[in-house]
Amino acid sequence: MAAAGSAVGLGNIWGFPTKAAGNGGAAFVVVYLILAFLLAYPALMAELTIGRHARRNMVQALQAISTGPISRLVGTLAGYSGIIVASLILSFYAIVAGWMVSHMAEPVSTMLGMTGASEWMTGGSTERNLIFTAIFSSLTMLIIMGGVEKGIERWSTLLMPSLLILLVLLIVYVLTQPGATKGLEAYLMPNFDHFNPQMLLAAMGQAFFSLSIGVGTMLIYGSYLSHQESLPRLGAVVTLVDLGIAFTAGLLIIPAMYVAQEAGTDIFAADGSLIAGPDLILQVLPALFETMGSVGLLVAFAFFTLMVVASLTSSISMLEVPVAFSIENLGLSRKVATILVGLAIFAMSSLIIFNFDTLFGLVISISTEWGQPLLGVVLCIFAGWIFNRNQLLTELKQGDPHIEDSLFWKIWPTYVKIVCPTLILMAFAQTIL
Ligand code: PFF
Repeated sequence: MAAAGSAVGLGNIWGFPTKAAGNGGAAFVVVYLILAFLLAYPALMAELTIGRHARRNMVQALQAISTGPISRLVGTLAGYSGIIVASLILSFYAIVAGWMVSHMAEPVSTMLGMTGASEWMTGGSTERNLIFTAIFSSLTMLIIMGGVEKGIERWSTLLMPSLLILLVLLIVYVLTQPGATKGLEAYLMPNFDHFNPQMLLAAMGQAFFSLSIGVGTMLIYGSYLSHQESLPRLGAVVTLVDLGIAFTAGLLIIPAMYVAQEAGTDIFAADGSLIAGPDLILQVLPALFETMGSVGLLVAFAFFTLMVVASLTSSISMLEVPVAFSIENLGLSRKVATILVGLAIFAMSSLIIFNFDTLFGLVISISTEWGQPLLGVVLCIFAGWIFNRNQLLTELKQGDPHIEDSLFWKIWPTYVKIVCPTLILMAFAQTIL
């Protein structure tokens, strides 16, 4: 549940539907599904297997499976990079999630007649951003301070099902509104004109981000797993849940845009493409909710609660990466580690807020478009080339006595060694050339 919670987040409910809308609807969905299974699932398996075997954070885990000074050095560097990239992702993620918190609070203050406060909450001021990022970061820190079972697992088990219920209720509502069918068409009718290398790259980046790969999150969750669990099955469940929620979120977001258009909101940008990014969730959807009268306040509250819940189960998984490192390598207590790391990441978020135009896009690009897939390559190479083969296979057999009959057993060990890193690097070569 926690691993699925890490995977399901803003990337699914916001990133995936908007990318699908802008890249040919179902055509993107098909490419994304293929890449998720072809590239992201094998990389996820590399992380989980290394993590459960080493039972330590990414730095120590990669050091532990290293065989000589060079692999040890590369492993150490990759481990530290993972921690830095996880922290960078959290620093921008907390800002976006903070917007979700402010939009969740807005209908409440409107209901209470505090219109001034409502306007402030949905305005884009620096103070608003700082305060709500701080609120979201504090929530994340509180859960992480609770530890693995009482914090991460308990909250993920509670929050994940509520997210699904909220999502389905909202879909039922939106699909009964005028304009929704046009949205369904835009989402589900493939338009292969959009098929190009850029779209492939967008789909690959989205798959790595969505499955939380490369930064040691899944590795550290793997390190907390018992040997009774079957890793391939667990990885497949996480991948399927993640894809399922992304696909389902598309059924909500894209029809909702067209319902908003029917109600008079402009959903196309100046160049004729669908509005994506912050504007979609923060302008188009609230405009839609407003047309619903007082029910709209409730729907807005429900929707943004959904976003906050999804964000929290992801943000805790990011914060756990540097926190686990500080506990295991620096000997800090969980409480002290959480406070120190949390404050450092909040300082980074503040830096981004104060230099929003230059830093926001840059941090996203460095961490998710470059950092995650490249670290994914390193993890595949460690699993395929450096990790002792017998140990790797033994680890996979734990919790899965019949694994030798499976397709996974026949394909993955070779696949992760050669095909997966090559394909990821080829996708990169495309962008550089
Ligand atoms: N998978 C999360 C999402 O789709 O929103 C984002 C994420 C979580 C990325 C954890 C990286 C990470 F370590």
